[in-house]
Amino acid sequence: MASEANPRAAGATTRPFQRLYVNIDHVATLRQARRGQSPDPVEAARWCEQAGADGITVHLREDRRHIQDADVEALATSVRTVLNLEMAATDEMVAIARRLRPHQVTLVPERREEITTEGGLDVRHDPARLRAALDALHEAGIRTSLFVAPDLATVDACQALGVRAIELHTGPYAHHPGDPAPLAALARAAAHGAAIGLHVHAGHGLSVANVGPVAAIDDIEELNIGHALVGRALFIGLTGAVHELRAVMDAVRGRHV
Ligand code: PXP
Repeated sequence: MASEANPRAAGATTRPFQRLYVNIDHVATLRQARRGQSPDPVEAARWCEQAGADGITVHLREDRRHIQDADVEALATSVRTVLNLEMAATDEMVAIARRLRPHQVTLVPERREEITTEGGLDVRHDPARLRAALDALHEAGIRTSLFVAPDLATVDACQALGVRAIELHTGPYAHHPGDPAPLAALARAAAHGAAIGLHVHAGHGLSVANVGPVAAIDDIEELNIGHALVGRALFIGLTGAVHELRAVMDAVRGRHV
């Protein structure tokens, strides 16, 4: 049996492995521009998985502007890694998730007029609605995550709701390059979330250029990256775009591949 090199033995520090989930919504955005069959998100998922993605993420929006119901149906059976379904906490979406049973559902806020998911969930506004959605998803054996701002009181409120994981919104970090405050907030919220027993994920606006400092936060187990990766794939292909991100994440976490 081939033995893996032990980076610790070589004196390198090794952080826990961090998963890369690729959000393929924007493959569907391109397809919907012509309302045709291609490019096919299912095929994109296959390319990403073959390139080393640890999971596939899609957002089934209520307005169906990119990913369609048929895409989620197909991905639910074709994805070989795991499927992370982002959705609003509505009865319609919960019913779809309970039928298709993705590995994980990430509940996100949704406003029809927004360009993309703009803020985190307001978990203290209507906790009963969120709790009901989480209970229904847990009952179906689905892992749950809430997309939230990196704010300590919000993290506490997520734990009180009984969710398994949180996904910290990295938008403020991505949109304010050079400002140390958003990164510090992410590190604080991630440490706090992990300390109170939550799994911690992160995403939004990440790219090869800015992922390093977020990948360096030990408590963040999973990154969800979409727009920049799909855009980069136009020039170097999906395989290259996944490899490029993976390389930065692995280098930062001291993982030798
Ligand atoms: N995580 C969540 C919850 C999101 O809503 C999005 C955007 O769909 C992402 C991650 C990925 O963000 P981006 O496309 O900017 O990489």
